[in-house]
Amino acid sequence: MADDVVTMDKIVSLAKRRGFVFPSSEIYGGLGSSYDYGHYGVLLKNNVKEQWWRAMLREREDILALDSAIIQHPRAWEASGHLAGFTDPLIDCRTCKLRFRADQIEQAQCGRKPSKHPGETDECDLTGARDFNLMFQTRIGPVQEEGSVVYLRPETAQGIFLNFKNYLQFGRKRPPFGIAQIGKSFRNEITTGNFIFRTREFEQMEMEYFVPPDDADRWFEHWLEQRVDWWTHLGLRPNHLRLRPHDSEELSHYSRATSDVEYLFPIGWSELEGIANRGNFDLTRHAEYSGQKLEYVDTATGERYVPFVIEPAAGVDRAFLAFMVDAYDEDEIEGERRTVLRLHPVLAPVKVAVLPLVRKDGQPELAKEVYLELRDHFQTEYDEGGAIGRRYRRQDEIGTPWAVTIDHQSLEDRTVTVRDRDSLAQERWAIDELAEGIERRLRAEWRSPKLDG
Ligand code: GAP
Repeated sequence: MADDVVTMDKIVSLAKRRGFVFPSSEIYGGLGSSYDYGHYGVLLKNNVKEQWWRAMLREREDILALDSAIIQHPRAWEASGHLAGFTDPLIDCRTCKLRFRADQIEQAQCGRKPSKHPGETDECDLTGARDFNLMFQTRIGPVQEEGSVVYLRPETAQGIFLNFKNYLQFGRKRPPFGIAQIGKSFRNEITTGNFIFRTREFEQMEMEYFVPPDDADRWFEHWLEQRVDWWTHLGLRPNHLRLRPHDSEELSHYSRATSDVEYLFPIGWSELEGIANRGNFDLTRHAEYSGQKLEYVDTATGERYVPFVIEPAAGVDRAFLAFMVDAYDEDEIEGERRTVLRLHPVLAPVKVAVLPLVRKDGQPELAKEVYLELRDHFQTEYDEGGAIGRRYRRQDEIGTPWAVTIDHQSLEDRTVTVRDRDSLAQERWAIDELAEGIERRLRAEWRSPKLDG
């Protein structure tokens, strides 16, 4: 099916209709750029995170896990450079009271009707550009005093650097080794929109890989390759994925080299993940601000150095959006239009739906038995309500790869039909072989059927 069937509006609408993502606080009119993940959204998001943990932890021996606090010592943000440098230049309009990013003012629209560009009319009263820090501030403790100001972390990475020393001590690792974490980050973004692409509260999957300085370039290349492989292995079409190196003006204050993994979203090519060589910036700065030694010492040789850091940093919500967009498809079955999410089976929120053909003749009872057996192995759903065609459509829309149907023959010979979401093939399988057969399919290599469309 052609790519152009996917639009952001279709994704937003499917996400809401099928309980993946809802606008937050909707009964109060919504809160700009805040979203709640519904039942199937939680399942899909968990699967994305599980695959990331799998690649970082289970399939390697050199990476350890961490779950650090969201609110950290405020000095950490001085050391990291975020307090001084994590800013966007902003321009305010005193007339319409709106705020614009100085670097995007040419494309911005002002609040008046009919809408104009800021500065276009005599009534526009624009301030000069002022730096606006993107960190959310709050206070700890009951007293509103200067010393109680803290920040919600704008990246999970710093929690890793703050724990570097602990990991050297307990982890018995020597560079190269990594520390990985998944968690919420917060940025008071000025330009949001595009659904869950850019929000103020989002989840990151970040890994800091500590290496001997001389090996940093080699490891940077290693992680570029690993991360592109991860996205393609989970089904993103390679022709919708690319690596884009940053030029020197674009680099963050800490970075020696960065490449973005970009995906061709309906809004155009946009960042999915950033992979950076952070050098020894963070450990050196935290050592300076904390007074602690943050270096690796080889006890055998006496060699000591501050490791360089290679960082693959991906967004969970952006990954979620990319997988939804890449999977979204429409086709026609017997003259009827169908919407289908062709997700990689390991990502699909529900792996198997168990459906009795009719709600009588002992079929629901046998279907329940099959359901109880399968749910021990996979996220499984039982559905007996409504015409079978409609039940299939519902499962197609949430991306369920296999539907098991119990019919009159099932009661005679304990076989069922297994319907494949993508090929629509229906095969007859013995009930006793279902769990093993589905497990085998889940482990098989997978390729997006949209590549052949
Ligand atoms: N520690 C490095 C770092 O935070 P980043 O490029 O600012 O780098 C990494 O963020 C990833 O986090 C991005 O590639 C994106 O997927 C995700 N991300 C960043 N800001 C986001 C936002 N406002 N909303 C959703 N995801 C965001």
